[in-house]
Amino acid sequence: MFEKLSRKKEIADILKESNSATSGMRRSLTATNLITLGIGAIVGTGIFVITGQAAADYAGPALSLSFVISALGCVLAGLCYAEFAAMIPVSGSVYSYSYATLGEGWAWFIGWTLILEYLFACSSVAVGWSGYMTSLLQGWGYAIPPHLSVATFDHLKSGEWVFTGSIINFPAVFIIAIISAFLIGGIKQSAFINNIIVVIKVCVILLFIGFGISYIDTANWTPYIPENAGEFGQYGWSGVLRGAGVVFYAYLGFDALSTAAQETRNPQRDMPRGILISLLICAVLYVLVTSVLTGIVNYKELHVDAPIALAIDRAGEGLAWLSPFIKLGAIAGLSSVILVMMLGQSRIYYSISRDGLLPGMFATINRKHGVPRNATIFACIVTATIAGLFPLHVLSELVSIGTLLAFTVVCLSIVALRRTQPSLPRPFKVPLVPLLPLLGAALCMLQMLSLPWNTWMRLIGWTAVGLVIYVLYGIKNSKLHQNI
Ligand code: ALA
Repeated sequence: MFEKLSRKKEIADILKESNSATSGMRRSLTATNLITLGIGAIVGTGIFVITGQAAADYAGPALSLSFVISALGCVLAGLCYAEFAAMIPVSGSVYSYSYATLGEGWAWFIGWTLILEYLFACSSVAVGWSGYMTSLLQGWGYAIPPHLSVATFDHLKSGEWVFTGSIINFPAVFIIAIISAFLIGGIKQSAFINNIIVVIKVCVILLFIGFGISYIDTANWTPYIPENAGEFGQYGWSGVLRGAGVVFYAYLGFDALSTAAQETRNPQRDMPRGILISLLICAVLYVLVTSVLTGIVNYKELHVDAPIALAIDRAGEGLAWLSPFIKLGAIAGLSSVILVMMLGQSRIYYSISRDGLLPGMFATINRKHGVPRNATIFACIVTATIAGLFPLHVLSELVSIGTLLAFTVVCLSIVALRRTQPSLPRPFKVPLVPLLPLLGAALCMLQMLSLPWNTWMRLIGWTAVGLVIYVLYGIKNSKLHQNI
């Protein structure tokens, strides 16, 4: 049993498989496509919704500092992702990396965790999209009735599950279905649509920064770090730290880029560029948006669902014209996050299934469009069902813990692989190994530890289900084990 769990795939075999004619995926993505895919995956609910709440509840104007701290952890993990993605440019991302470095049992565990991240990130962003869309349509006089625009179930603070009376969150299901249809049409088309969306959302953010800057009242920045309110995480330095943990969600997505490695023309050169440049651009945008936001509106008033829209209202008549653009930008922005997360999710099903740990039907590539169609359809059905039935707060809780776990493993695997296979060709190398990867792992673990206990319980529950699937199916059907 232990022999099976710890058996590793050879990196050379993984590369051969991905380059073989049977793999069928097209290498069509360029470095620019990767950067736009990255920004497309990163900028979304985090900046358009969570920023205001994090400033109001934890960090005040110093939330811009929280964004810098959180970016540091992400850049460290991003460097490690870049080394792996350049060395093993295949679609399975951290799942494939750990199959080569830590063994099959661990790889399955990580693959299962990645499914959790992408599935719940995607459905939570779709629910956010539904909220913005419903509000925009309402503003235009087309109200969607509540029984078709809110979740069917809710989880109360008392711990009880209740039926809300709604049939389904229809807009959330709708956007997932539309985006899946684009993905089935082929990655080239999806990348083109993503590029347009990214241009729109970056323009909207730049407009907000450019025009908002003259409405800043510097009195709102004082004190920059509000005095701690007596409890850990409520303002003061601990608030800045907790703020960093909360806005971590806003950076999530750059890792999904590595799942497109097999569809990249020159992954060795372009993957590191794509991951790091998109992360840095987003960090700069986030710090600027937060500074303008907390400069226009006092942080105490920012606990709202649409903080940027509030700032525009506060700026008065002069900026009113920007309001519908912001809503449209948010809707477009959230769409591209869903697109990249759906892409990541289907590629993970594809990679795991190709190894025999999930049924083989997910490993087939559609000849005409060169995409894993069955895996995409499956991802669409599961994500749409979850997004249609459950509310945002339940879905978003699970996203961070899964991602942090994956980042920790990536950082540790870099250190392990440098020791076990020092002579492997590494087109991109993380500097200062083991210091930087260990620092990255420590930062991620710290953030995991600060998450509530019930999130840990859900992670344990999810892992238990994964274990049952592996024991009952994966272990018997693994392609590696057929040779043992
Ligand atoms: N980073 C993504 C967002 O903020 C998940 O929506």
